[in-house]
Amino acid sequence: MSKLWGGRFTKKTDQLVEQYTASIMFDKEMAEEDIQGSLAHVTMLGKQGILSDDDVDKIKDGLHRVLQRIKRNDIEFTIGDEDIHMNIEKSLIDDVGSVGGKLHTGRSRNDQVATDMHLWLRKRVVEFVDMLHKLQSALVEQAKANTDTILPGYTHLQRAQPILFAHHLMAYVSMIGRDIERLQDSYKRINVLPLGAGALAGTTFPIDRHFVAEQLKFDAVYENSLDAVSDRDFILEFLSHASIIMMHLSRLSEELIMWSSTEFNFVELDDAFCTGSSIMPQKKNPDVPELVRGKTGRVYGNLFGLLTVLKSLPLAYNKDMQEDKEGMFDTVTTLQGALQLFAPMIATMKVNKEQMRKAVNQDFSNATDIADFLVGKGMPFRQAHEVIGKTVLYCIEQNKYLLDLTLDEFKQFSKLFDDSIYAILQPEQVVNARNVYGGTGKTQVEAAIGRADEVLEQTAAWIAEYMERSR
Ligand code: ARG
Repeated sequence: MSKLWGGRFTKKTDQLVEQYTASIMFDKEMAEEDIQGSLAHVTMLGKQGILSDDDVDKIKDGLHRVLQRIKRNDIEFTIGDEDIHMNIEKSLIDDVGSVGGKLHTGRSRNDQVATDMHLWLRKRVVEFVDMLHKLQSALVEQAKANTDTILPGYTHLQRAQPILFAHHLMAYVSMIGRDIERLQDSYKRINVLPLGAGALAGTTFPIDRHFVAEQLKFDAVYENSLDAVSDRDFILEFLSHASIIMMHLSRLSEELIMWSSTEFNFVELDDAFCTGSSIMPQKKNPDVPELVRGKTGRVYGNLFGLLTVLKSLPLAYNKDMQEDKEGMFDTVTTLQGALQLFAPMIATMKVNKEQMRKAVNQDFSNATDIADFLVGKGMPFRQAHEVIGKTVLYCIEQNKYLLDLTLDEFKQFSKLFDDSIYAILQPEQVVNARNVYGGTGKTQVEAAIGRADEVLEQTAAWIAEYMERSR
């Protein structure tokens, strides 16, 4: 089979080399973007008088037909044509004849592949904002249903202070909010046009890069042709953001797994999101969060893979850079899989409010509040800490909780105690006393939910606008 670049060669490519160097197996994912870029390029060639209107029309019609055939699965891509760019160019030439060979005027695969990836990734980024937005909404809804649900808050995985379950969920809403902001911010660096950089140095043809950018809805054009074809920062950035998102999901996964154990029994995941055991009939396993936790590893791996590919790589294009795609595709697929399941899994999760409450009644997570009580009576905090430490030790020895102590018992530890301590020690009071901006007090949590609702609306508007812009 003849190569598009065969002129300089006297021998056929070794078959193993063809196989080794081809990328069509995976870069066919960007077929649509490749044609989108070519249509803009050839339109510009016509406008600049580089190609005749007649040639431009033939090429455009041919590209549209090729696209339709690809969508119908009616083109067989071949390894002999190496990658999606040359497969499409070959199909175009088969369709329109030798005029199709004019498409590549003033262009190189180096600026072409970069353009395809920018076009492809910007769509994914908007879709991910949309998916994260759905997860945020599910979390906010669960939070709204749990503004009276109290559970122990933990540090070191030891009971620390009681909190509202809504507050815990809203922590994840904040984390995902940052994920969304990072993706939104990265859009402006993804949405830059490399085309027109040629192989590395620009082109001798009088092209109009800004016109191409406008047609493809890019906000800017790469300043430097070498940078345009060598830059993969935008992919690295995406892989970093994806890694942080997966890290967040893995933390929530770990909590869901723990909370749904018999030991905690705080939540129950819906049957639809769990699987059974082939041997133990009683089992209901949280496979989805477990796999999300596990798949976080490959997403980190893809980030490190590409960082390593690019390390010390001289400018400009090197074939090494073909290694930028599979990790990116894999990360996109992995993240899509996780996010697609997470929102409905959170929405359908049953919250075992009584069990959470029971746990709070059986711990010392109100200890800080009696220390604060003594401080209110004028005792230095350090001394109060010591007094309450002794009180807790006494309780443990007596097999009691703080609320079980009589006032006489309290008074053995400090004369400052009075009857009001019992109200202060109630979990609701302990929670609501933290009425500070960002704290777990109910008023504050309700305010946080209100702010989240506003942000959700703003994000929805962003998504609508950028879905349109990234097409
Ligand atoms: N398949 C190649 C890649 O993904 C396209 C660019 C090829 N450029 C070249 N000079 N061989 O990197």
